[in-house]
Amino acid sequence: MPEIEMSETVTPTATTTSQEAEILAALGKRLVVLVGMMGAGKSTIGRRLAARLNLPFVDADTEIEAAAGMTIPEIFEIHGEPHFRDGEARVIARLLDNGPAVLATGGGSFMREETRRRIGEKAVSIWLKADPDVIMRRVRRRADRPLLQTADPAATVSRLISEREPTYQHADLTISSREVPHDKIVDECLVALHAKLINPAPPIEIVSAAR
Ligand code: S3P
Repeated sequence: MPEIEMSETVTPTATTTSQEAEILAALGKRLVVLVGMMGAGKSTIGRRLAARLNLPFVDADTEIEAAAGMTIPEIFEIHGEPHFRDGEARVIARLLDNGPAVLATGGGSFMREETRRRIGEKAVSIWLKADPDVIMRRVRRRADRPLLQTADPAATVSRLISEREPTYQHADLTISSREVPHDKIVDECLVALHAKLINPAPPIEIVSAAR
């Protein structure tokens, strides 16, 4: 597999607020990793979040396609899903060594235990949680998701949501992805990141000792 470069470096925004500067300092070499279902907005929100944090944005699906020299539907068709999943885990492991950055992952990648562990070590994860109808409205626009080439894509989305949500819940943060301006979701991600990284909840012992 060829060396994978960070791609799609986003032009920095004009100003960095203290909230964003503090997040950046607290992240150190860690990444912000977006997880969640297809159509949850991981790439759209991730690109904007990266611009606000003045970090590179990386899309795991794009990197997998670059590494394989073919599209995701082609990888599924020619080599099958297990081969795709192995390549996906390798590419994400490599990208996690190149922080700080904002990384949008493919919807199935967080289901692999080893990938979750690596993300836990090297990143702060955000689950972009979207309702089935929002997901369906978004994925209907494109035919490049092999898992949704079924007789009843809505039923497939529902099944995947119920299989995956218990695992997505293990992300560090959860943000509801809904039909509001993208910048509102990005603002919510920044507030949640700041709260997690800068003002973590005090340990239980300290709370009880202070009473
Ligand atoms: C998949 C999601 C896709 C892509 C592949 C499989 C999944 O990425 O990795 O089609 O299993 O949910 P997005 O979540 O970016 O659409």
